[in-house]
Amino acid sequence: MSKVIEITHPLILHKLALIRDKNTGSKDFRELVNEVAMLMAYEVTREMPTETVKVETPICVTDCKMLAGKKVAIVPILRAGLGMVDGMLKLIPAAKVGHIGLYRDEVTLQPVEYFCKLPQDIEERDIIVTDPMLATGGSAIDAISLLKKRGAKYIRLMCLLGSPEGIKAVQVAHPDVDIYLASIDEKLNEKGYIVPGLGDAGDRLFGTK
Ligand code: PRP
Ligand code: URA
Repeated sequence: MSKVIEITHPLILHKLALIRDKNTGSKDFRELVNEVAMLMAYEVTREMPTETVKVETPICVTDCKMLAGKKVAIVPILRAGLGMVDGMLKLIPAAKVGHIGLYRDEVTLQPVEYFCKLPQDIEERDIIVTDPMLATGGSAIDAISLLKKRGAKYIRLMCLLGSPEGIKAVQVAHPDVDIYLASIDEKLNEKGYIVPGLGDAGDRLFGTK
């Protein structure tokens, strides 16, 4: 079974409280989501392999560590996952970015795919899928399945909030994918919204409601 990692750093907790606040407007919401994504990226990349390289300091030659091996791809689930990309790129500027467009049908809650554009060498990359909300888990499960169909092997999922139901569903569907969250919330409500949650992440990011 995959790992579920809740990242409860005080800076993340503080920013998450502001993000949840219904009085936080789109501009601040966008900035805060990116800031939390950047802080989470530190933890999500913790197990990336390093290799020893020789570096000449002004004093002598020494052994240092640099990132080794596979390159990274960040894959946001549109739209709301986009809100985490710039923050991630601040820490991993050489990452390539793929896009998967899914929206959740408001009645059935089933994800509907409308776009997919990935780096050509996606099968060789360490992939971090981003989406602020893991509610029923349907969108994340479909996005990861789509990536696997294109040959992706190394996938992590990074969300701000997850419901226990959504986390379980992703773990069952994709037991090889570790899940990183800033908070595991209480539950889903009857409309499939995360409780206490933050409302509709896409609408709050882009000011569409
Ligand atoms: C939201 C969110 C996730 C999905 C989560 O997207 O960003 O992608 O819902 O729900 P699930 O776990 O039940 O699938 P939405 O469909 O509202 O689209 P948007 O990002 O374009 O607003
Ligand atoms: N999508 C959102 O944007 N918010 C939720 O609470 C659930 C799904």
